[in-house]
Amino acid sequence: MPTQTFLDEWIGVKLRERKKRERELHRARPARYIRLRPRGYPLRDVSRTSPLSVSDEKLFEIYAREQWLGTTVAQGDILFDQRLIPDFAFEVVKVLPRGEVTITEDTRIFIEKTPHSTRIHREVRFADIIGHEDVKKKCRIILRYLKEPERFGEWAPKNVLFYGPPGTGKTMTAKALASEAQAKLFLIRATDLIGEYVGDGSKRIHELYSGARDSAPSVVFIDELDAIGLDRAYQGIRGDVSEVVNALLTELDGVQENPGVVTIGATNNPLMLDRALRSRFEEEILFRLPDERERYLILKHYAARMPLKVEADLREIAGLTHGMSGRDLKDRVLKVALHRALLENAPAVRKEHLEYSLKVFSGKTEPRELYI
Ligand SMILES: Nc1ncnc2c1ncn2[C@@H]1O[C@H](COP(=O)(O)OP(=O)(O)OP(=O)(O)O)[C@@H](O)[C@H]1O
Ligand SMILES: [Mg+2]
Repeated sequence: MPTQTFLDEWIGVKLRERKKRERELHRARPARYIRLRPRGYPLRDVSRTSPLSVSDEKLFEIYAREQWLGTTVAQGDILFDQRLIPDFAFEVVKVLPRGEVTITEDTRIFIEKTPHSTRIHREVRFADIIGHEDVKKKCRIILRYLKEPERFGEWAPKNVLFYGPPGTGKTMTAKALASEAQAKLFLIRATDLIGEYVGDGSKRIHELYSGARDSAPSVVFIDELDAIGLDRAYQGIRGDVSEVVNALLTELDGVQENPGVVTIGATNNPLMLDRALRSRFEEEILFRLPDERERYLILKHYAARMPLKVEADLREIAGLTHGMSGRDLKDRVLKVALHRALLENAPAVRKEHLEYSLKVFSGKTEPRELYI
C-alpha cells in the first residue's frame, strides 16, 4: 500500500536527517545536478484534490535552491517543503556527482513532471462529510437540479449561503459537490475578485458568471464572502470592494439572465455581511461545530487513514474535545499526535500522544520543545 511505503519513509526521515547533519560535518562534494520527484503529503487531506503543478521550472529551481541551499543530500532522500506548501515531500531521484552532495548556488535543480504521482488525493465525496445532514440534503437538491434543470424552472435553487465557524467543512462540502457533480463548479475566493484597478473587480465577476452561464447548469462557489461583503457598519468599504459587491448583487439577482447557475456563498458570520448582499440568499445553512458523537466519528474517520495505527479510545478523546471543529480534530489533535509518535518511533499513536496534542491545543505545553 502506498501509505505504508510512505510511512516507512517518514520514519526513516528523522534518521536520515541525523545522518545528513553528520555528512555535513564531513563536507560533502558540491552538487552539480539534482532531480526531484514530487511525492505529496505524508498525511492525506481529503480536501486537497489538485495535483502539484509547477508553472515555471526556472523559478522553481531558484525557489528550491534558495530553500535547500547548504543541505546535503543523496539519492533516495526526501526533502520537505517548508515554505509555500509546507510538508509537501520531494524525493531526490538523482544527484550528480553520485553519492552525497551539498546544494550550492551553482546546483542545477530539476523537477520531474509526473502527473500521476502528483495526483495526491482522491476526491472528496459527500460520504466523507460527517454530520451536516441538512447541508447534504440541500446539496442533493442542487445536484438533482444540475442533472435535470428543466424540471425546476423558476423553482431552481439559486443563491445559498453556507455559514458557520472556521473549519466546519464549508469549503470541503463545496469540493464534494464539485466532485459529485463531475465538475461544472466555479470555486473562487472573494478576495480574488478584488482587482488592482477600479473596474477590475466587476470585470472579474462578469467573466466568472459568463463562464458559469456558458457551461450551465453550473455552481459558483464564492468562499470567504465576508472579505468583500462586509457590512458598511463594520468597515468603510473601499471603492473597489463596493463595486465588486454591486456587480455581484446584479448577478445574484439575475434569475432570468443566469439560467442554470447556482451560487453558494460561504462566510463565518452572516451578521457581518452587507445586508443587501445577505438578503439575496434564499437559504442560509448553518455548519455547526460537531457534537460529541460527530467528533468521535471524525476522529475515527481520519484515524483510519493515518499511516500509524491509533491505539487509544477515541470516544474518550471525543469527550475531551468539546468546541473543536473538524479541522481542529484532524490537524491539531490527530496530526500533532501522529508527528509526536513518529518522532518517538512509536509503532502506534497512543493515548499519551493524543493527550499531548490536547495539552498543546489548550496551550499548556510548548510544542517547540520537540524541535530543540
Ligand atoms: N464534518 C466534517 N467531516 C469530515 N471532515 C471535516 C468536517 N469538518 C471539517 N473537516 C476537516 O477539516 C478540514 C477543513 O474544513 P474546511 O476547510 O471545509 O472548513 P471551512 O468551514 O471552509 O473553514 P473556514 O471557515 O476557515 O474556511 C476539511 O478539509 C476536513 O479535512
Ligand atoms: Mg473555507
